[in-house]
Amino acid sequence: MDENMEKILYSEADIQAATKRLGEELTRDFDGKHPIVVCILKGAIHFMSDVIRNMDTYIEIGFMDVSSYGDGFESSGKVKIVQDLDMDVAGRNILIIEDIIDTGRTMRALVDIFKERNAESVKICTLLDKAERREVEVKADYVGFEVPNEFVVGYGLDYFNYYRNLPYIGVVKPEVYKNN
Ligand code: PRP
Ligand code: MN
Ligand code: MG
Repeated sequence: MDENMEKILYSEADIQAATKRLGEELTRDFDGKHPIVVCILKGAIHFMSDVIRNMDTYIEIGFMDVSSYGDGFESSGKVKIVQDLDMDVAGRNILIIEDIIDTGRTMRALVDIFKERNAESVKICTLLDKAERREVEVKADYVGFEVPNEFVVGYGLDYFNYYRNLPYIGVVKPEVYKNN
């Protein structure tokens, strides 16, 4: 384990079980709806890939890069579209794939964007839900894990853009980010 990591919160096996469960649920719910499954970069890279490989139905995929945190570790409260989805969402069923919902600002902004663009429906699937930190109202339709208010990294989640490559989700030692 990395020296800056306090503990592993969700192992590779835990994550695999969650993505399988969610994929099966999504298969049932989206069968015949040919949704656009939208990966929110960068954090959702692995989760997107694992979830869609467990979706046994006809889907399209798209990518959107939004940023709320900059490079730091506290939310700036603002959401910026770094790279937009290159697809027309009007009349389509949208499934947003996120790694984590924290304050809810990113997800709130995304849902508003897709509704404004006349999507037929907008559903939210997040691997982690840190409900304790919510500042704006937003509720995920599909959740992998309800996560405690700890600084988590790995499996797409970053600290200053590092640790996204870890196959598990771990908690960073408090002394690591307190010294920054
Ligand atoms: C993180 C995370 C979510 C968002 C959640 O992304 O991946 O997208 O913040 O925070 P919120 O609920 O407080 O808005 P970030 O903006 O750090 O970009 P990244 O995915 O590229 O790391
Ligand atoms: Mn993100
Ligand atoms: Mg980030």
